[in-house]
Amino acid sequence: MLKLVRTELQDLKVYDVAKCRGEGVWLNANESPWEVNAEIVAEQINRYPIGTPEALMDQLSEIYKIEQNQLLLTRGSDEGIDLLVRLFCTPYQDAIMIFTPTFVMYKQSANLQGAKVIEVPLQASNDFKLNIDSIDKAFTKETKILFICSPNNPTGGLIPCQDILKVVERVKDKAIVVVDEAYIEFAEGESMTLYVNQFSNLVVLRTLSKAFGLAGLRFGILIAQAPLIEMIRRIMPPYPFSVLTLSAATAATTNEKQCKIISNIAYIKKQREIMAYELSQLRIVTKVWQSESNFLLVEFKDPKKVAAICALNKIYLRELTGVPGLEQSLRMTIGLEAENQQLTSILKEINE
Ligand SMILES: Cc1ncc(COP(=O)(O)O)c(C=O)c1O
Repeated sequence: MLKLVRTELQDLKVYDVAKCRGEGVWLNANESPWEVNAEIVAEQINRYPIGTPEALMDQLSEIYKIEQNQLLLTRGSDEGIDLLVRLFCTPYQDAIMIFTPTFVMYKQSANLQGAKVIEVPLQASNDFKLNIDSIDKAFTKETKILFICSPNNPTGGLIPCQDILKVVERVKDKAIVVVDEAYIEFAEGESMTLYVNQFSNLVVLRTLSKAFGLAGLRFGILIAQAPLIEMIRRIMPPYPFSVLTLSAATAATTNEKQCKIISNIAYIKKQREIMAYELSQLRIVTKVWQSESNFLLVEFKDPKKVAAICALNKIYLRELTGVPGLEQSLRMTIGLEAENQQLTSILKEINE
């Protein structure tokens, strides 16, 4: 039977999902370290769900300072990425542009759709910023979407809004610019949501998986002008979320919950600063990149050895040795203070 599968998908690799459960310190998937248990109000599940529950839409509109008709609920940002590629890219004709190294799902969705992937490297010598002139050179008339991840995973830095705006302007009427802001709550800069009213070719992706600590809920928010939101809705299944997910998302985004989230973000930023300093003092570390997210990108003399010793001690980091340009790097999520201290003490031992 498998020979009936589309030929070009036969060798497609399954997404390498980070294992992040069980005994140990899990610093490999950029999750929140605080346990959150779903609060679900008694729900009627003999009926299909209401797609846009009023209380949830009110809360999200307040959080993102965006009109409700400019918000689309998705099953994580992963689904937002996939929907956009499917809506804009004609298979075996169109292309997306990505700025590497970056989050892998843009490429994965494009591969599935049969869309070409144009890779433009970020400037490693300039804090992984965009090289706007090289975008002009690589841009083709088939390029339908440019994915800009800011702060970028796995490099951690923010792409300045002014740079993104230049790109949005340059490709106006030709392509959509999707700004993936999965980690923006940990950054000092402003969100591109501020500019959605101004540009019909701008889409911003936000998620409840990171700062809100709800990776297990699978809940993302796609922000764009209302006509585009309406168009994307047409290609979605009619009931993407279960009643239970919508109920849990409503309970997790109330005003009262915001205070805890804000203090958690401050905690992570403080721990990030401490970790960046501690790591920069080690001889085994050759570079700690400036981060505006809940993780650090760190270069080591021998990253494989460091990751292996940490794993033996049940501390799990994300290896990036297979990523071009990041062969010497490991990505480490900022955890609770005790977890971070466990990590630094192992690294200090290796250092000796
Ligand atoms: C940059 C970026 N975008 C999107 C996602 C996926 O987010 P979600 O859990 O909302 O699908 C991740 C997950 O790690 C990410 O790093």
